[in-house]
Amino acid sequence: MALIKKFRIKNFKNTDPIVELKNISVFYNKRQIIDNLNLKINKQEILGMLGPNGVGKSTILNLITGLKNPNYGEILIGGINCTKLPINERFTKFQIGFVPQYGGLIQNLSLIDNLKLVAEIHIEEKELQIQKLNKLITQFEFESLLKIKAKHLSGGQKKKLVIAMALINNPKILLLDEPFAALDILTIKMLQEIILNLQSTEEISIVVVDHQARDLLNCVDRAIILSNGKIIASGSPNDVISDKDAKSHYFGEEFNIS
Ligand SMILES: Nc1ncnc2c1ncn2[C@@H]1O[C@H](COP(=O)(O)OP(=O)(O)OP(=O)(O)O)[C@@H](O)[C@H]1O
Ligand SMILES: [Mg+2]
Repeated sequence: MALIKKFRIKNFKNTDPIVELKNISVFYNKRQIIDNLNLKINKQEILGMLGPNGVGKSTILNLITGLKNPNYGEILIGGINCTKLPINERFTKFQIGFVPQYGGLIQNLSLIDNLKLVAEIHIEEKELQIQKLNKLITQFEFESLLKIKAKHLSGGQKKKLVIAMALINNPKILLLDEPFAALDILTIKMLQEIILNLQSTEEISIVVVDHQARDLLNCVDRAIILSNGKIIASGSPNDVISDKDAKSHYFGEEFNIS
């Protein structure tokens, strides 16, 4: 954890929103999942989203990507109303990188072919494609796995591949749905460092959803806690873990991050 904290941008002050969810409500078959939610994600912010199973965390990421349309409310990206903008246009116009909770790769292609496929879509010049892929292969230690079909990779290797694929287009908005779930301790540390380095070297906003609350809180600027379709607590990691409602609905009394 000391290693991680060293990377933190302590005086994070940019409150300019890159994504705004305004008065969003979502229903599935008359069942209300999101209830008049208002959420701003600031430029260069790392936002963590926590909440119990089924509360709507993945749904919120899907609202930002356009995979899910809200029943009510508006979604603004870069100040532009994108509520009706199709997924592909959102991804290219706003350079979105997305790691879905499940899937995200082509099972019958090898690891390197999955990476190449995405690189060919996003990077025009062959030489730049190769440079980017080589950088990711080294960073994620994929050297011995290049020819293995995605379906034969382990759970953690699959997750790492999807994360690497999401970084190929140098995203300005990076959405990570349970990135730590399948990873070993050292790989989680590596990913936390990648996240923090991205924030310090590039203008990028990152949203992380995970049930590994400690790992998540160790690398975010701000966290929100969701319960019953609403945000019940928002603030710094220390603020949210000491919040009364967050304790009773999510963390319990004993939780700490040290
Ligand atoms: N296509 C769908 N049809 C009906 N209900 C759905 C559909 N997709 C999601 N839901 C419901 O919406 C709710 C929110 O789902 P979501 O996947 O966003 O939860 P989550 O917070 O990501 O949960 P988890 O932590 O388990 O991943 C759940 O109750 C789920 O059953
Ligand atoms: Mg989910």
